[in-house]
Amino acid sequence: MPSLTRTVPAPGGTYTLGQKDVARIGYGALQLRKLESEPGKAEAILRRALELGVDHIDTAEFYGNGFANRMIRKAVGGDCEILIATKVGADPETNGKIPVKLAQRPEQLRATVERNLAGLGVERIALVNLRRADVGPGFQAEGDQVVGIDDQMAEMIAMRTEGKIGNIGLSAVTLQTIERVLSAGIACIQNAYSLVAQEFEDLLAVCLEHGIAWVPFYPLGGAMPGLPKVTDQPKVIEISKQLGITPSQVGLAWLLQHSPNTLLIPGTTDYAHLQENLAAGSVVLTPEAVSELNGMAVPSLPS
Ligand SMILES: NC(=O)c1ccc[n+]([C@@H]2O[C@H](COP(=O)([O-])OP(=O)(O)OC[C@H]3O[C@@H](n4cnc5c(N)ncnc54)[C@H](OP(=O)(O)O)[C@@H]3O)[C@@H](O)[C@H]2O)c1
Repeated sequence: MPSLTRTVPAPGGTYTLGQKDVARIGYGALQLRKLESEPGKAEAILRRALELGVDHIDTAEFYGNGFANRMIRKAVGGDCEILIATKVGADPETNGKIPVKLAQRPEQLRATVERNLAGLGVERIALVNLRRADVGPGFQAEGDQVVGIDDQMAEMIAMRTEGKIGNIGLSAVTLQTIERVLSAGIACIQNAYSLVAQEFEDLLAVCLEHGIAWVPFYPLGGAMPGLPKVTDQPKVIEISKQLGITPSQVGLAWLLQHSPNTLLIPGTTDYAHLQENLAAGSVVLTPEAVSELNGMAVPSLPS
């Protein structure tokens, strides 16, 4: 496949992820699972993201039980200008209440890397995030799924040495976990963080100090029922009207302005949302707006 080398400006500028400078706004592939019955649309959304300057796609083999990876393989092909980041620590669950289960043991991490290599049709994955369950939201590890970080990192480092993995990232981790494994070389941290979940400032500061990319998941609050959404917040809507931008752009621009090492991976299946999210890279929030958004109160959702 011909290279899709950048012909448009990088949305939001660039920051280094592993060894590569990528656009600060990328694409998260989790939402693609909503399009399992419309693979043509899923592939077209990905192609549109690439046309608009995305060169960093976040995925997992368990997103739609291999569906997201198959779509990425079709849309991206072998273009090594596009950085694909996947994750291990969880696998598809075909019979459970939710379609995913933890897979934390070292041999499970290796098996999941192999499945991702096959699903994406590559011999090496540029970045693999080790998805732990140290902090929420989401999984809680129990029984044989409670695994020490040292054992997991030994397997991740072995796979990096073998060339199956280019870089190692961590997800859903504490500051202690990061500090324990810093010397191994960590490319990024993915914890849930957004205007509606402004925690982990201490982790963000350590990442900034060490040149580690901060790649928050759920940058718009996610799509899970019961979690607050950035675009629903009265303060966000008010500021969006004042500045003539959309609520999602308020949330994404706040993240970009908050710390220069932040990379975004918002997920969408909607062309207008995709365009809007990438255009957030050109939005500059006023200092007044930023100070109103910092530490913004989030009304609790009706139960
Ligand atoms: N490391 C981890 O454990 C972990 C966990 C979860 C997710 N992730 C990664 O993080 C990425 C982002 O998380 P996410 O996709 O769950 O949540 P998100 O990006 O915070 O939000 C996605 C939700 O917001 C909606 N949305 C997107 N753009 C919008 C816009 N401009 N206006 C209004 N609504 C908009 C989407 O619906 P529409 O489709 O209708 O736009 C979807 O419902 C994922 O795709 C995945 O790659 C990683």
